[in-house]
Amino acid sequence: MDDLDTLKSELVAAVKAAPDLDSLEAARLAALGKKGRLSDLMKGLGKLDPDARRDAGFALNRLKDQVVDAIEARKRELTDAAIEARLATESVDITLPPRPYPLGQGRIHPISQTMDEIVAILGEMGFAVAEGPDIEDDFHNFTALNIPPDHPARQMHDTFYLPRDKSGEIKLLRTHTSPVQIRTMQTQSPPLRVIAPGRTYRCDSDMTHTPMFHQVEGLVVDKSTHMGHLKGCLIDFCRAYFEVENLPIRFRASFFPFTEPSAEVDIGCSRKGGELKIGAGGDWLEILGCGMVHPKVFEACGIDPMAYQGFAFGVGVERLAMLKYGIPDLRTFFEADLRWLRHYGFPALDIPSLVFGS
Ligand code: DAH
Repeated sequence: MDDLDTLKSELVAAVKAAPDLDSLEAARLAALGKKGRLSDLMKGLGKLDPDARRDAGFALNRLKDQVVDAIEARKRELTDAAIEARLATESVDITLPPRPYPLGQGRIHPISQTMDEIVAILGEMGFAVAEGPDIEDDFHNFTALNIPPDHPARQMHDTFYLPRDKSGEIKLLRTHTSPVQIRTMQTQSPPLRVIAPGRTYRCDSDMTHTPMFHQVEGLVVDKSTHMGHLKGCLIDFCRAYFEVENLPIRFRASFFPFTEPSAEVDIGCSRKGGELKIGAGGDWLEILGCGMVHPKVFEACGIDPMAYQGFAFGVGVERLAMLKYGIPDLRTFFEADLRWLRHYGFPALDIPSLVFGS
Protein backbone atom coordinates (compact mmCIF):
# COMPACT_ATOMS: atom_id res chain seq x y z
CA MET A 1 0.00 0.00 0.00
CA ASP A 2 2.81 2.36 0.87
CA ASP A 3 4.23 1.63 -2.53
CA LEU A 4 0.94 2.64 -4.12
CA ASP A 5 0.84 5.89 -2.14
CA THR A 6 4.35 6.75 -3.27
CA LEU A 7 3.44 5.82 -6.84
CA LYS A 8 0.33 7.98 -6.65
CA SER A 9 2.24 11.03 -5.46
CA GLU A 10 4.86 10.54 -8.16
CA LEU A 11 2.34 10.15 -10.95
CA VAL A 12 0.14 13.03 -9.80
CA ALA A 13 3.19 15.25 -9.27
CA ALA A 14 4.35 14.53 -12.84
CA VAL A 15 0.89 15.41 -14.18
CA LYS A 16 0.69 18.63 -12.16
CA ALA A 17 4.17 19.67 -13.26
CA ALA A 18 3.46 19.23 -17.00
CA PRO A 19 4.19 22.68 -18.51
CA ASP A 20 2.17 22.14 -21.70
CA LEU A 21 -0.24 19.73 -23.41
CA ASP A 22 2.55 17.69 -25.03
CA SER A 23 4.29 17.05 -21.70
CA LEU A 24 0.93 16.21 -20.15
CA GLU A 25 0.37 13.55 -22.81
CA ALA A 26 3.84 12.15 -22.06
CA ALA A 27 2.96 11.96 -18.34
CA ARG A 28 -0.31 10.21 -19.20
CA LEU A 29 1.50 7.60 -21.30
CA ALA A 30 4.09 7.04 -18.55
CA ALA A 31 1.26 6.20 -16.12
CA LEU A 32 -1.58 4.73 -18.17
CA GLY A 33 -0.06 3.91 -21.58
CA LYS A 34 0.50 0.30 -22.67
CA LYS A 35 3.89 0.25 -21.02
CA GLY A 36 2.95 2.71 -18.28
CA ARG A 37 3.68 2.04 -14.63
CA LEU A 38 0.05 1.48 -13.64
CA SER A 39 -0.57 -0.79 -16.63
CA ASP A 40 2.45 -2.88 -15.57
CA LEU A 41 0.99 -3.35 -12.10
CA MET A 42 -2.42 -4.24 -13.57
CA LYS A 43 -0.78 -6.95 -15.65
CA GLY A 44 0.69 -8.46 -12.45
CA LEU A 45 -2.80 -8.92 -10.92
CA GLY A 46 -3.30 -12.24 -12.74
CA LYS A 47 -0.63 -13.89 -10.66
CA LEU A 48 -2.30 -13.14 -7.32
CA ASP A 49 -4.77 -15.40 -5.54
CA PRO A 50 -8.49 -14.31 -5.82
CA ASP A 51 -8.77 -12.39 -2.49
CA ALA A 52 -5.51 -10.54 -2.88
CA ARG A 53 -6.37 -9.87 -6.54
CA ARG A 54 -9.68 -8.26 -5.60
CA ASP A 55 -8.08 -5.96 -2.99
CA ALA A 56 -5.17 -5.03 -5.20
CA GLY A 57 -7.45 -4.54 -8.23
CA PHE A 58 -9.66 -2.21 -6.21
CA ALA A 59 -6.68 -0.17 -5.00
CA LEU A 60 -5.16 0.04 -8.48
CA ASN A 61 -8.46 1.13 -10.08
CA ARG A 62 -8.85 3.87 -7.48
CA LEU A 63 -5.34 5.03 -8.16
CA LYS A 64 -6.06 5.00 -11.89
CA ASP A 65 -9.20 7.16 -11.38
CA GLN A 66 -7.20 9.63 -9.30
CA VAL A 67 -4.51 9.90 -11.96
CA VAL A 68 -7.17 10.35 -14.71
CA ASP A 69 -8.84 13.10 -12.65
CA ALA A 70 -5.50 14.82 -12.14
CA ILE A 71 -4.83 14.68 -15.90
CA GLU A 72 -8.27 16.17 -16.75
CA ALA A 73 -7.80 18.95 -14.22
CA ARG A 74 -4.34 19.82 -15.56
CA LYS A 75 -5.65 19.72 -19.12
CA ARG A 76 -8.37 22.25 -18.29
CA GLU A 77 -5.81 24.51 -16.61
CA LEU A 78 -3.48 24.38 -19.59
CA THR A 79 -6.25 25.02 -22.19
CA ASP A 80 -7.64 27.93 -20.18
CA ALA A 81 -4.17 29.42 -19.88
CA ALA A 82 -3.63 29.00 -23.65
CA ILE A 83 -6.89 30.85 -24.41
CA GLU A 84 -6.00 33.63 -21.98
CA ALA A 85 -2.56 34.00 -23.55
CA ARG A 86 -4.06 34.13 -27.05
CA LEU A 87 -6.66 36.72 -26.05
CA ALA A 88 -3.92 38.84 -24.52
CA THR A 89 -1.80 38.85 -27.70
CA GLU A 90 -4.73 39.26 -30.12
CA SER A 91 -6.35 42.23 -28.45
CA VAL A 92 -7.11 45.15 -30.78
CA ASP A 93 -6.96 48.74 -29.64
CA ILE A 94 -9.87 50.30 -31.52
CA THR A 95 -8.89 53.77 -30.36
CA LEU A 96 -5.72 53.71 -32.49
CA PRO A 97 -5.74 56.04 -35.54
CA PRO A 98 -5.99 54.32 -38.97
CA ARG A 99 -2.68 53.16 -40.40
CA PRO A 100 -1.47 55.43 -43.18
CA TYR A 101 0.15 52.54 -45.01
CA PRO A 102 -0.87 50.26 -46.64
CA LEU A 103 -4.51 50.56 -45.55
CA GLY A 104 -4.59 54.27 -46.29
CA GLN A 105 -3.54 53.70 -49.89
CA GLY A 106 -7.05 53.02 -51.18
CA ARG A 107 -8.77 55.89 -52.97
CA ILE A 108 -12.39 56.85 -53.58
CA HIS A 109 -13.00 57.40 -57.30
CA PRO A 110 -13.86 61.04 -58.14
CA ILE A 111 -17.20 59.85 -59.60
CA SER A 112 -18.18 58.25 -56.29
CA GLN A 113 -16.97 61.28 -54.36
CA THR A 114 -18.93 63.69 -56.58
CA MET A 115 -22.08 61.53 -56.38
CA ASP A 116 -21.74 61.47 -52.58
CA GLU A 117 -21.38 65.24 -52.51
CA ILE A 118 -24.45 65.76 -54.73
CA VAL A 119 -26.50 63.32 -52.65
CA ALA A 120 -25.31 64.97 -49.41
CA ILE A 121 -26.32 68.48 -50.56
CA LEU A 122 -29.69 67.49 -51.99
CA GLY A 123 -30.32 65.03 -49.15
CA GLU A 124 -29.91 67.94 -46.75
CA MET A 125 -32.62 69.78 -48.74
CA GLY A 126 -35.02 66.89 -48.15
CA PHE A 127 -34.58 64.78 -51.29
CA ALA A 128 -34.71 60.99 -50.94
CA VAL A 129 -32.66 58.71 -53.19
CA ALA A 130 -34.65 56.68 -55.76
CA GLU A 131 -33.35 53.94 -58.03
CA GLY A 132 -34.30 52.29 -61.29
CA PRO A 133 -32.86 49.58 -63.55
CA ASP A 134 -29.99 50.18 -66.01
CA ILE A 135 -31.82 47.95 -68.51
CA GLU A 136 -34.99 49.86 -69.34
CA ASP A 137 -37.94 49.51 -71.63
CA ASP A 138 -38.98 51.93 -74.33
CA PHE A 139 -41.96 53.18 -72.35
CA HIS A 140 -40.00 54.39 -69.30
CA ASN A 141 -36.96 55.69 -71.20
CA PHE A 142 -38.88 57.47 -73.98
CA THR A 143 -42.64 57.26 -74.45
CA ALA A 144 -43.70 58.19 -70.92
CA LEU A 145 -41.24 61.09 -71.05
CA ASN A 146 -43.18 62.51 -74.00
CA ILE A 147 -40.72 61.15 -76.55
CA PRO A 148 -43.05 59.13 -78.83
CA PRO A 149 -41.65 56.61 -81.38
CA ASP A 150 -40.92 59.05 -84.22
CA HIS A 151 -39.68 61.90 -82.06
CA PRO A 152 -36.37 63.38 -83.29
CA ALA A 153 -35.03 63.37 -79.70
CA ARG A 154 -34.70 59.58 -79.99
CA GLN A 155 -31.96 59.98 -82.58
CA MET A 156 -30.02 62.30 -80.28
CA HIS A 157 -29.90 59.62 -77.62
CA ASP A 158 -27.73 57.11 -79.56
CA THR A 159 -29.43 54.26 -77.78
CA PHE A 160 -27.89 50.84 -77.12
CA TYR A 161 -30.67 48.35 -77.92
CA LEU A 162 -30.63 44.79 -76.58
CA PRO A 163 -31.65 41.73 -78.61
CA ARG A 164 -35.38 40.98 -78.64
CA ASP A 165 -36.31 38.92 -75.53
CA LYS A 166 -38.63 35.85 -75.34
CA SER A 167 -41.75 37.98 -75.23
CA GLY A 168 -40.59 39.86 -78.35
CA GLU A 169 -39.79 43.07 -76.46
CA ILE A 170 -36.69 45.08 -77.26
CA LYS A 171 -35.10 46.45 -74.08
CA LEU A 172 -32.40 49.11 -74.02
CA LEU A 173 -29.69 50.56 -71.77
CA ARG A 174 -31.18 53.70 -70.27
CA THR A 175 -29.89 56.80 -72.05
CA HIS A 176 -30.60 59.05 -69.05
CA THR A 177 -31.77 58.79 -65.43
CA SER A 178 -35.11 60.43 -66.30
CA PRO A 179 -36.95 57.04 -66.46
CA VAL A 180 -36.55 56.90 -62.67
CA GLN A 181 -38.89 59.94 -62.54
CA ILE A 182 -41.52 57.84 -64.29
CA ARG A 183 -41.01 54.82 -62.04
CA THR A 184 -41.23 57.03 -58.94
CA MET A 185 -44.45 58.72 -60.07
CA GLN A 186 -45.97 55.34 -60.97
CA THR A 187 -45.28 53.83 -57.57
CA GLN A 188 -45.51 56.74 -55.13
CA SER A 189 -48.05 59.48 -54.73
CA PRO A 190 -47.19 63.16 -54.40
CA PRO A 191 -45.81 65.11 -52.66
CA LEU A 192 -42.53 63.77 -54.10
CA ARG A 193 -38.97 64.92 -53.65
CA VAL A 194 -36.47 62.43 -55.07
CA ILE A 195 -33.05 62.27 -56.69
CA ALA A 196 -31.86 59.36 -58.81
CA PRO A 197 -28.09 58.99 -59.16
CA GLY A 198 -26.91 56.31 -61.55
CA ARG A 199 -25.24 55.03 -64.69
CA THR A 200 -26.44 55.96 -68.16
CA TYR A 201 -25.38 54.71 -71.60
CA ARG A 202 -25.11 56.13 -75.09
CA CYS A 203 -23.45 54.70 -78.17
CA ASP A 204 -20.97 57.53 -78.43
CA SER A 205 -17.24 57.73 -77.81
CA ASP A 206 -14.87 60.63 -78.41
CA MET A 207 -12.96 63.31 -76.46
CA THR A 208 -16.09 64.49 -74.67
CA HIS A 209 -18.30 61.36 -74.67
CA THR A 210 -17.94 57.93 -73.13
CA PRO A 211 -20.42 55.08 -73.79
CA MET A 212 -21.16 54.89 -70.06
CA PHE A 213 -21.46 57.95 -67.88
CA HIS A 214 -23.35 59.10 -64.79
CA GLN A 215 -26.24 61.42 -64.14
CA VAL A 216 -28.29 62.57 -61.19
CA GLU A 217 -31.95 63.21 -61.85
CA GLY A 218 -34.10 65.33 -59.55
CA LEU A 219 -37.89 65.47 -59.27
CA VAL A 220 -40.22 67.51 -57.08
CA VAL A 221 -44.01 67.19 -57.36
CA ASP A 222 -46.57 68.97 -55.21
CA LYS A 223 -49.78 70.95 -55.56
CA SER A 224 -48.17 74.36 -55.76
CA THR A 225 -44.61 73.67 -56.97
CA HIS A 226 -43.49 76.45 -59.31
CA MET A 227 -40.52 77.74 -61.27
CA GLY A 228 -39.37 79.81 -58.28
CA HIS A 229 -38.83 76.59 -56.34
CA LEU A 230 -36.85 75.16 -59.25
CA LYS A 231 -34.61 78.23 -59.40
CA GLY A 232 -34.07 78.45 -55.66
CA CYS A 233 -33.23 74.78 -55.37
CA LEU A 234 -30.73 74.77 -58.23
CA ILE A 235 -29.07 78.06 -57.25
CA ASP A 236 -28.52 76.74 -53.72
CA PHE A 237 -27.31 73.44 -55.09
CA CYS A 238 -24.74 74.99 -57.49
CA ARG A 239 -23.36 77.36 -54.84
CA ALA A 240 -23.06 74.55 -52.28
CA TYR A 241 -21.48 72.12 -54.73
CA PHE A 242 -18.88 74.56 -56.11
CA GLU A 243 -18.40 76.15 -52.68
CA VAL A 244 -18.63 79.66 -54.17
CA GLU A 245 -21.05 81.81 -52.18
CA ASN A 246 -21.95 84.40 -54.84
CA LEU A 247 -21.58 82.12 -57.85
CA PRO A 248 -23.43 83.83 -60.75
CA ILE A 249 -26.15 81.56 -62.14
CA ARG A 250 -28.43 82.09 -65.13
CA PHE A 251 -31.40 80.15 -66.47
CA ARG A 252 -31.48 80.08 -70.27
CA ALA A 253 -34.64 78.95 -72.12
CA SER A 254 -34.15 75.58 -73.76
CA PHE A 255 -36.10 72.52 -74.89
CA PHE A 256 -36.65 69.08 -73.45
CA PRO A 257 -39.65 66.95 -74.45
CA PHE A 258 -40.45 66.11 -70.82
CA THR A 259 -40.50 69.65 -69.41
CA GLU A 260 -42.37 72.81 -70.31
CA PRO A 261 -40.98 75.39 -69.91
CA SER A 262 -37.43 74.02 -70.06
CA ALA A 263 -34.16 75.71 -69.18
CA GLU A 264 -30.46 75.14 -69.11
CA VAL A 265 -28.44 76.40 -66.19
CA ASP A 266 -25.16 78.24 -66.73
CA ILE A 267 -22.71 79.16 -64.00
CA GLY A 268 -20.32 82.07 -64.05
CA CYS A 269 -16.68 81.48 -64.84
CA SER A 270 -13.59 83.14 -66.21
CA ARG A 271 -11.39 81.81 -69.00
CA LYS A 272 -8.70 84.48 -68.70
CA GLY A 273 -5.27 83.29 -69.74
CA GLY A 274 -6.72 79.98 -70.93
CA GLU A 275 -7.40 78.93 -67.35
CA LEU A 276 -10.95 78.04 -66.32
CA LYS A 277 -12.05 79.47 -62.97
CA ILE A 278 -15.54 78.95 -61.54
CA GLY A 279 -17.07 82.19 -60.18
CA ALA A 280 -17.60 85.76 -61.34
CA GLY A 281 -15.55 86.45 -64.47
CA GLY A 282 -17.90 87.42 -67.29
CA ASP A 283 -18.05 84.04 -69.03
CA TRP A 284 -20.69 81.30 -68.77
CA LEU A 285 -20.55 77.53 -68.58
CA GLU A 286 -23.56 75.25 -69.08
CA ILE A 287 -23.95 72.65 -66.36
CA LEU A 288 -27.44 71.18 -66.23
CA GLY A 289 -30.90 70.87 -67.77
CA CYS A 290 -34.19 71.43 -66.00
CA GLY A 291 -37.81 72.46 -66.35
CA MET A 292 -41.39 72.12 -65.17
CA VAL A 293 -42.75 68.58 -65.59
CA HIS A 294 -44.78 68.36 -68.82
CA PRO A 295 -48.50 67.60 -68.30
CA LYS A 296 -48.21 64.65 -70.68
CA VAL A 297 -45.56 63.10 -68.41
CA PHE A 298 -47.93 63.39 -65.45
CA GLU A 299 -50.70 61.80 -67.52
CA ALA A 300 -48.46 58.87 -68.52
CA CYS A 301 -47.89 58.19 -64.81
CA GLY A 302 -51.51 58.56 -63.75
CA ILE A 303 -51.03 61.88 -61.93
CA ASP A 304 -53.62 64.61 -62.57
CA PRO A 305 -51.81 67.54 -64.25
CA MET A 306 -54.61 69.90 -63.20
CA ALA A 307 -54.00 69.08 -59.52
CA TYR A 308 -50.20 68.77 -59.47
CA GLN A 309 -47.16 70.59 -60.76
CA GLY A 310 -43.52 69.68 -60.54
CA PHE A 311 -40.00 70.45 -61.57
CA ALA A 312 -37.22 68.19 -62.72
CA PHE A 313 -33.51 68.47 -63.45
CA GLY A 314 -30.70 66.33 -64.74
CA VAL A 315 -26.97 66.81 -64.18
CA GLY A 316 -23.97 65.02 -65.60
CA VAL A 317 -21.75 63.78 -62.78
CA GLU A 318 -18.50 63.59 -64.81
CA ARG A 319 -18.93 67.19 -65.94
CA LEU A 320 -19.45 68.41 -62.37
CA ALA A 321 -16.42 66.41 -61.20
CA MET A 322 -14.20 67.72 -64.00
CA LEU A 323 -15.14 71.32 -63.29
CA LYS A 324 -14.70 71.17 -59.52
CA TYR A 325 -11.57 69.06 -59.41
CA GLY A 326 -9.84 70.29 -62.58
CA ILE A 327 -9.86 66.93 -64.36
CA PRO A 328 -9.15 67.77 -68.01
CA ASP A 329 -10.02 64.56 -69.88
CA LEU A 330 -13.32 62.69 -69.58
CA ARG A 331 -11.98 59.36 -70.79
CA THR A 332 -9.45 59.08 -67.97
CA PHE A 333 -12.34 58.46 -65.52
CA PHE A 334 -12.74 54.96 -66.91
CA GLU A 335 -9.19 53.92 -67.72
CA ALA A 336 -8.59 52.44 -64.26
CA ASP A 337 -5.07 53.90 -64.18
CA LEU A 338 -3.80 53.65 -60.61
CA ARG A 339 -1.52 56.67 -60.98
CA TRP A 340 -4.54 58.76 -62.05
CA LEU A 341 -6.61 57.42 -59.17
CA ARG A 342 -3.86 58.22 -56.67
CA HIS A 343 -3.70 61.76 -58.02
CA TYR A 344 -7.42 62.55 -58.40
CA GLY A 345 -8.93 60.10 -55.89
CA PHE A 346 -10.01 60.87 -52.32
CA PRO A 347 -8.91 59.26 -49.04
CA ALA A 348 -11.57 56.89 -47.77
CA LEU A 349 -12.21 58.92 -44.63
CA ASP A 350 -12.63 62.20 -46.48
CA ILE A 351 -16.34 62.64 -45.89
CA PRO A 352 -18.03 64.97 -48.44
CA SER A 353 -18.23 68.53 -47.15
CA LEU A 354 -21.89 69.26 -46.69
CA VAL A 355 -23.45 72.64 -46.74
CA PHE A 356 -21.83 75.81 -47.87
CA GLY A 357 -21.61 78.70 -45.45
CA SER A 358 -23.31 77.02 -42.48
N1 DAH B 1 -32.54 63.68 -69.36
C1 DAH B 1 -31.78 64.80 -69.87
C2 DAH B 1 -30.57 64.31 -70.64
O1 DAH B 1 -30.09 63.25 -70.39
C3 DAH B 1 -31.34 65.68 -68.73
C4 DAH B 1 -32.51 66.41 -68.16
C5 DAH B 1 -32.86 67.65 -68.63
C6 DAH B 1 -33.27 65.83 -67.16
C7 DAH B 1 -33.93 68.33 -68.13
C8 DAH B 1 -34.37 66.51 -66.64
C9 DAH B 1 -34.67 67.77 -67.14
O2 DAH B 1 -35.13 66.02 -65.68
O3 DAH B 1 -35.76 68.42 -66.63
O4 DAH B 1 -30.09 65.00 -71.46
